[in-house]
Amino acid sequence: MNGSKNGGTAVVPGSYDPVTFGHLDIISRAANVFDNVIVGVVDQPVRKRETVFSAEERVAFIEAEVAEYPNVQVKPFDTLLVEFAREHGAKAIVKGLRAISDFEYEFEMNQLNRKMAPEIESMYMMAAPMFSFLSSSGVKELAMFGGDIEGLVPDPVAVRLQEELKR
Ligand code: PNS
Repeated sequence: MNGSKNGGTAVVPGSYDPVTFGHLDIISRAANVFDNVIVGVVDQPVRKRETVFSAEERVAFIEAEVAEYPNVQVKPFDTLLVEFAREHGAKAIVKGLRAISDFEYEFEMNQLNRKMAPEIESMYMMAAPMFSFLSSSGVKELAMFGGDIEGLVPDPVAVRLQEELKR
């Protein structure tokens, strides 16, 4: 991999309840392009149900997986995403896009964020095909019904999910 990067800082935001291998793929790809990557873990997502894991635990799950990347930091936030991005001097917000179904939601978020912070560019990375149908909510549903979640989330996350959700 070519080590020279000049993209400055990017924020890769999400609920990460919990982090999946799909998220980790996007984070590692962003880390190959940008000088610094801040993974922003939203404290409590407004449009979703209450999280299974606390922000501290969600941050810790990701930290354990990105320890090998010297240019990635993981931080919780409870403000507008664009404020968090500005605080860290980020030039870009990077998100993953899986299927067309992600598009409408991301398009709306993009417009709102652009209106508030036109200087911060939102950029989208296409999910790798093997992660196209992987979501935190799908993994939680599988775990709840005792389904096999191996290969979808890191092992320590799978253990904690099963403790929290297995019926
Ligand atoms: O992984 P998700 O759930 O799609 O991530 C959602 C996230 C964290 C990007 C979104 O909830 C967010 O940006 N929250 C902070 C509040 C905010 O800035 N909302 C967008 C404009 S109103």
